Amino acid sequence: MTNHVPVIAIDGPSASGKGTVAERVAAALGFHYLDSGALYRLATLNALRRQVPLDDAVPLAGATRELEISFRDGKLWLDGEDVTEAVRTEAVSAATSRVAASPQVREALLERQRLFLRPPGLVADGRDMGSVVFPHAALKVFLTADVGTRAERRHKQLMEKGMCAKMADVVEELRQRDARDSARPVAPLRHYPDALFLDTTALTIDQAVGQVLAWYRERTGN
Ligand code: C5P
Repeated sequence: MTNHVPVIAIDGPSASGKGTVAERVAAALGFHYLDSGALYRLATLNALRRQVPLDDAVPLAGATRELEISFRDGKLWLDGEDVTEAVRTEAVSAATSRVAASPQVREALLERQRLFLRPPGLVADGRDMGSVVFPHAALKVFLTADVGTRAERRHKQLMEKGMCAKMADVVEELRQRDARDSARPVAPLRHYPDALFLDTTALTIDQAVGQVLAWYRERTGN
């Protein structure tokens, strides 16, 4: 039984910094960490490589169920190959939000995500961690920042990786992805009332991490 294992669910839009915050919160508490976006990215890269049409739900969900993936040494592996960089390209990011709109794909990934729930606890980040995957989470956070700040953060990341990108294109890509993630009928990106709102526009990573930990301690007394 894993019902008693605590979960912190951190949801929010692209490039909000939720992944970095979630990972640091997990490290501070000694909890496991689930980057659910990585699962959707791996499912998408797998479909692209196998030439499964992205709008054909049945074969897409079938390929997703059979994914051969692992998270090891801080890297992502697909069919034994290190695809950590390959899943982060802008092309895969854009295709992922199309794939993630499929209810069948979401269903195919549901149990895989729940398998990350192991003692002593889990910090999970994504779009529907608090609403669908871990509805009983001890703490739910909706973490965001204004679109200009998010675009700057993403742009900086891309430049650091040696990938050139125009700021205007980065803003446009974020807007389109967030619009698609928010408009889909199944598990849309949304600030639900049971999630605490954390705007990181004017916060450092340390401040955002500190806030999540403070909320968790208030909730649980740990
Ligand atoms: O979090 P990240 O930007 O890596 O997620 C990539 C895409 O995966 C998102 O744009 C979204 O379409 C999808 N996703 C999702 N549900 C999640 C996590 C990610 O639909 N829980």
